[in-house]
Amino acid sequence: MSMFENSVAVITGGATLIGAELAKAFVAEGARVAILDLDADNGARLADELGPSALFIETDITEDDQLKAAVERTAEQFGQIDHLVNLACSYIDEGVESSRGDWLKALDINLVSAVMAAKLCRPFIQQSAAGAIVNFTSISAQAAQTGRWIYPASKAAMKHLTRSMALDFAADGIRVNSVSPGWTWSRVIGEVSGGDREKADRVAAPFHMLGRLGDAQEVAQVVLFLCSPKASFVTGADYAVDGGYSALGPEQQEPAIPKLAE
Ligand SMILES: NC(=O)c1ccc[n+]([C@@H]2O[C@H](COP(=O)([O-])OP(=O)(O)OC[C@H]3O[C@@H](n4cnc5c(N)ncnc54)[C@H](O)[C@@H]3O)[C@@H](O)[C@H]2O)c1
Repeated sequence: MSMFENSVAVITGGATLIGAELAKAFVAEGARVAILDLDADNGARLADELGPSALFIETDITEDDQLKAAVERTAEQFGQIDHLVNLACSYIDEGVESSRGDWLKALDINLVSAVMAAKLCRPFIQQSAAGAIVNFTSISAQAAQTGRWIYPASKAAMKHLTRSMALDFAADGIRVNSVSPGWTWSRVIGEVSGGDREKADRVAAPFHMLGRLGDAQEVAQVVLFLCSPKASFVTGADYAVDGGYSALGPEQQEPAIPKLAE
């Protein structure tokens, strides 16, 4: 039997490259998935590709009514919800120049909507024998990055929110963990690098021990692990999927001590 036979996962932001690979990985392991995203074109295309195991619901997760309707429709169509993955995000960030509106909008998408999604899914996930929630954070949660104030703060908050949720949902039998990807080949990195994967790997190499970007499938496999019974004693934890980024110190990969003798 596949790992997620008879399981249903809700993925917010599932229409993006990372979300789509996650949806495919869940379906490949026997799950049914609901993809909640603003992006109607890519969402519908993905659902078509995945067939009857996937349901795309065009949803603005910052709108309570839409989010509630999407969660209820998922439960109606598939009969249950076992997993929630809070993946949707906004990269709105002008550093110190960001307006109050920028802050509120980005935090609404990156943080507050994840809480609302968890609240709405909780009564369904409570009934699952294998309930789990995975929140997406980032390497940006723990490193100062010049010109970026909102995104890293939202991801740091998500990391701590994961601990709060894990504690208060433990009695419901719901495990809650987060993943912190490093640079991952994705829409945003594809756009900025002009679609040049080799260049993106070259730029990422000095600060990722593995010398390259991650792939969406590699992130998806860690999310699947965290949702699976293999992680039955894992909760409140953050898993780095970052090719060693967060373990690397400021000396990076170069021997620093010999520089004293230069
Ligand atoms: N790309 C990377 O290198 C990287 C690195 C670390 C962490 N991450 C995290 O991985 C996740 C996916 O990142 P990505 O780069 O693929 O993002 P992306 O910008 O490509 O996709 C985000 C998705 O969220 C959706 N979305 C935005 N606002 C929404 C709303 N109000 N309602 C519903 N959907 C909404 C968008 O339509 C989009 O499909 C994010 O949580 C991000 O923080 C990405």
